[in-house]
Amino acid sequence: TTVEWEAASYDMGGHDTYMHKEIHEQADAVDRVLRGRIDDRFSTVHLGGLNLDAREARRIRRVKILGCGTSYHAGMIGAQMIEELARIPADAEPASEFRYRNAVVDPDTLYVAVSQSGETYDVLAAVQELKRKGARVLGVVNVVGSAIAREADGGIYVHAGPEVCVVSTKCFTNTTVAFALLALHLGRTRDLSVRDGKRIIEGLRKLPTQIAEILKQEEQVRELAEEYAQSRSMLFIGRVRGYPVAREASLKLKEITYIHAEAYPASELKHGPLALIEPALPTVAIVPDDDLLEKNRAALEEIKARSGKILAVAHREQEKADRTIVVPKNEDELDPILMGIPLQLLAYHAAKVLGRDIDKPRNLAKSVTVE
Ligand code: AGP
Repeated sequence: TTVEWEAASYDMGGHDTYMHKEIHEQADAVDRVLRGRIDDRFSTVHLGGLNLDAREARRIRRVKILGCGTSYHAGMIGAQMIEELARIPADAEPASEFRYRNAVVDPDTLYVAVSQSGETYDVLAAVQELKRKGARVLGVVNVVGSAIAREADGGIYVHAGPEVCVVSTKCFTNTTVAFALLALHLGRTRDLSVRDGKRIIEGLRKLPTQIAEILKQEEQVRELAEEYAQSRSMLFIGRVRGYPVAREASLKLKEITYIHAEAYPASELKHGPLALIEPALPTVAIVPDDDLLEKNRAALEEIKARSGKILAVAHREQEKADRTIVVPKNEDELDPILMGIPLQLLAYHAAKVLGRDIDKPRNLAKSVTVE
């Protein structure tokens, strides 16, 4: 029954923390967000709760994604997927900033509110303001029946299951998959070819197995974490698809280890942060095997030339890095879903070395329901 299922989800099931449990639930969680939604006949997906017919979907001129913290980072990845697959201009913005800047609300823009809890006040207030001005707002939400899910005109449940740890892991991953589904759906009502639709569907189907492969490397990541836990500060870099991954990894590390961490687009290094590079400031670099690989390698070289220590997350061993965590390659557009997963483990094991209260980091709450 449902009751038993829920009781089982709140059990730690042999893990020392909910965070560890939730990291390890990700292959199953992704399986759930995909389940029943793929339409092989038309190489698209069915999103029952969207409340957006094809004619309306074709009229969208922009997509604006709003969320806070980790959900904002998932939205950044989502915006890139929507631009790439549906060719609709899209961007993400912190909901908190959006609601305070008297933004222009445009009738041809589709607004998407992202929230694990569905209760974050800044997101809810942005949704209510948008609705008051007549905008169409979708929710990408985990908690069924939550305030944001109820206020939105429609949306996608991410089906990550209950997430207890204050820091979000499995819900982040499932949200990025939900955005891939939305991007594919919008793409296939517009100009995305059947061939590309099939390619993305094949990529989506590979995700659960690939996540399981990444999690098998936990011991190797734990060893790295012992070393990195001693850092006072860390830099995270990524370019285009890798940048939101770097931001999320940096947030995860600072939330649970209290180590200062900063994320930068790799392309911006030479415009400032290069001044910080020295042996005591390690860099974590997201290096996907895509058309920007050579550019990313050049950034690693710049760091190496200044004796900076580098940990790469890449699809193959990176010569310029001191260490590489190799993750399985998927379709270019879907790579960001996977590349941050080993860094959740890195943050977790570093926090463990430091003896932190991993599930309840200081000063933070699971859902911020106040101004
Ligand atoms: C996640 O690790 C954080 N604790 C935090 O940034 C969180 O993502 C943010 O507060 C938004 O919460 P929501 O997804 O429930 O709206």
